[in-house]
Amino acid sequence: LRLVVLISGAGSNLRHLLQASEDAEFPARVVAVGADRPADGLDHAEDFGIPTFTVALSNFSSRDEWGDELLAQIELWQPDLVILSGFMRLLPPRVVAALSPRLINTHPAYLPEFPGAHAVRDAIAAGATESGASVIVVDDGVDTGPIIAQRRVPVLPGDSEASLHDRIKIVERELLVQCVLDIANGHVDLKELAR
Ligand code: GRF
Repeated sequence: LRLVVLISGAGSNLRHLLQASEDAEFPARVVAVGADRPADGLDHAEDFGIPTFTVALSNFSSRDEWGDELLAQIELWQPDLVILSGFMRLLPPRVVAALSPRLINTHPAYLPEFPGAHAVRDAIAAGATESGASVIVVDDGVDTGPIIAQRRVPVLPGDSEASLHDRIKIVERELLVQCVLDIANGHVDLKELAR
């Protein structure tokens, strides 16, 4: 399975996926890593000798033009699956339409709880005693697509956003690797899920 992974930040989920794909038995390969900014996580791709591309929104006069360029860069690699992993931009509808259903996203909450860009902060603010991690098929909404897999993560007394996020990220990256395996092995049918 040819994977393109998009990031915006540290890329810890990406790094874990890259390490998993080092195993010759792993049925997927990251063929390129993209970002919407000079993300630190691009260093992980370089460490593994994987090509990277950056398409910055600020270089375009509209979100649609940015999306079209990002889509062109993604499609160059002929991915079987595109993974948004800590990618902090909403994709324009025509990008989602072009890639769906081979477009999945990791989210640090137990969707539909706490959608959006501040899921961990929101869980803390809500006084939640548990949150979670989810992997979904991306649709035109904000974290509203069909859930592929999700797992609960406890919130501990005194948790900060950082300590809870760290605990969630450990679960999230395991969930992502498992989802890639299940998709590659046909145990998860994205077309079926996204119908
Ligand atoms: C992940 O928890 C992702 O779900 C969220 O931000 C975090 C990014 O972490 N959007 P990293 O860039 O993979 O380290």
